[in-house]
Parts: sequence; C-alpha cells; structure tokens
Amino acid sequence: MDIKTQAFGRLPDGTAVEVYSLTNEKGLEARIMTYGATLVSLEVPDRMGKAGDIVLGYESLDGYIKNSPYFGSIVGRYGNRIAKGKFILDGVTYTLAANNGENHLHGGIKGFDKVVWNAEPVREEGVAAIKFSYLSRDGEEGYPGNLAVVVIYSLSNDNELKISYEARTDKATPVNLTHHSYFNLAGEGDVLGQELMIASDAYTPVDSGLIPTGEIRPVMGTPFDFTSPHAIGERIAKVEGGYDHNFVLRSGGELGLAARVVDPKSGRTMEITTTEPGLQFYSGNFLDGTITGKGGRVYSKHAGFCLETQHFPDSPNKPGFPSTILRPGRVYKSLTVHKFSTR
Ligand code: BGC
Repeated sequence: MDIKTQAFGRLPDGTAVEVYSLTNEKGLEARIMTYGATLVSLEVPDRMGKAGDIVLGYESLDGYIKNSPYFGSIVGRYGNRIAKGKFILDGVTYTLAANNGENHLHGGIKGFDKVVWNAEPVREEGVAAIKFSYLSRDGEEGYPGNLAVVVIYSLSNDNELKISYEARTDKATPVNLTHHSYFNLAGEGDVLGQELMIASDAYTPVDSGLIPTGEIRPVMGTPFDFTSPHAIGERIAKVEGGYDHNFVLRSGGELGLAARVVDPKSGRTMEITTTEPGLQFYSGNFLDGTITGKGGRVYSKHAGFCLETQHFPDSPNKPGFPSTILRPGRVYKSLTVHKFSTR
C-alpha cells in the first residue's frame, strides 16, 4: 500500500491543488485531487492483468475548472435535483440557485465539486486512505447551517475502493452526498455493451425536468428492470433521452448490494455496495463529443455511466421519500464500496 502526493495545478486565484495517489499490491491505483475531492483516474487491471483507466476526466486541472459535468467529483450539499430550487423546512422557505433550467442540481453554482478540500493521508494496516474535509458555511448556495463534511477515500488489498461520508450541522439542512465518477470498464469506446445488474425492484419516474413525480413504480416488465444483468444499450432506445433515473434499492438504507457491472471484453467487473437507499443510473446522455478528455479521447454520448449512491432526488419536497434532513446533534453517515475483480 502506498500514498503519494503531487502538485496538480492552481486555481485562477492562485490556490494550489494537490493530487494524491493510492496504490495497492494488486495493481490498482486511484488518484484523487483536492479540487472537488475528485477521482481523477482509476487504474484497474483487466483479465490479462493489463491496467486501464476506467473513469472519464481530464489530464490536468484546467479542464476540470473550465468544463466538467461533475467528472469524478464529490457532489453536495445535495446530489441531484431539488425542484425549482425551493424547499420548506420547519416552516421556513429556502431558495437555492436554479442552475439546471428552473431546478437546482448537484449543490448549485459552486457545489462541493468546485471547492478545494483539505486533505490528510491516513495510513492504517492494509489500507491507503485520504481524508478530505470541507466546511460549507451557513447560507452557502442558499442552504441553512454550517455543515462540516468529511469524505474518506480508502483503497484496500481486496481491491475495494471505499468512500465514506460524515457531516455535522448547526442548523437543520438537507444533505445528500454522492460521488460522480463516469465509469467505462473497457477504458475506451462507449458503455452500451457493458452488462449492468441493479438490485432494485422499483424506480422513481420523473417529469420532463427530471424531477421525480413522487411515484415509486415497479421495474418489472420495463426497460428499467436490471434485476438480472442486461447490456446497458439493450433497451436504451425505449427510454426517452436514455437512463437518468433513481432506483430504489432492495437494501433499503442498510449496507447491501446496489449494482454490478461487467465488461465482457476486458473482463473487468465492478460491484457497488452502499448504505444509501437509492442509486442514480445515468447513462452519460448529455455527453455529446464536445469534450476531449484523457489520452485525447473524445467523450461521445454514452462514453461513460454514473452509478450515484444517494437519497432520492427532490426529497426535501417529497414527504413520501426517505428524509434527507440533518439536524444539529445528529451525524450524517454514508458508505459506498466499489469492489473490482475480473472474470
Ligand atoms: C444527473 C444528470 C446530470 C448529470 C450531470 C447526473 O447525476 O442525473 O441529469 O445531467 O448528473 O452531469
């Protein structure tokens, strides 16, 4: 196990950004930078033992600053959308930035993906980890309360990349943190042939602005049924715009299996377990070839997929969904594990 740090560049205001590299004894390497606590690269061996980078992103900081659809970043204070950027909490109406049409997306104009986090390497027996922390001030992006957030990425010799989250507040606030990597287990081309299983019997249908209607609809007999593995592209034409939906996990908020993805070509397999009750499956629908990323690769539609463990979108306005409200004196805790293997 090894941890290394290097300079990754500077923000326009001169703030230095570092990148940490975590390596294990099985040939996995995760590089995470302090800007957005962003996973910049993830090298994973294929069935022949050949390493490949399985996340989308840029080679240098510049790209992330100029134009990044949340490549690899930590998303907060609220992952996914809050309708019209408004919610009522304890009788008070709060207004957040509308940065996605009329809706609020991924924490606003300057979310947790666009701030520089403090970082501290953690060396423990059998794991290499980095502890990131950030204090989101009362009123930031319209949210109430000072929110102290800690996110730990850790890599083990079992080929597990764990992301654990903790947050504490001094005023009641919605919190819904997630990680936004665009995976492509082949490390090239599109992801339509990669086979996905989601441990979910129901999803939350959305309106034209991608806000859940509030309904929890069974997946059975629909293109959303991933209870047994299906190639991502198999039924995608039947889903208007492609997949961009929250799945209600069977594990229901207890640590359990969320999804498994297999790339038949390289043999790379990723299994995700989480304590979150939901999983946003986004099939990279808005990638349109205008971004050229690492290694000169052009990111066309479906060049990567996201599997974001989370609470359901727009929960602050949906009393029927599991609550995302964190109150003073309570601790927000969340854990997601990505386990890699080959077949
Ligand atoms: C959302 C998409 C959004 C994307 C931003 C995903 O989490 O579900 O609707 O376009 O993030 O890159």
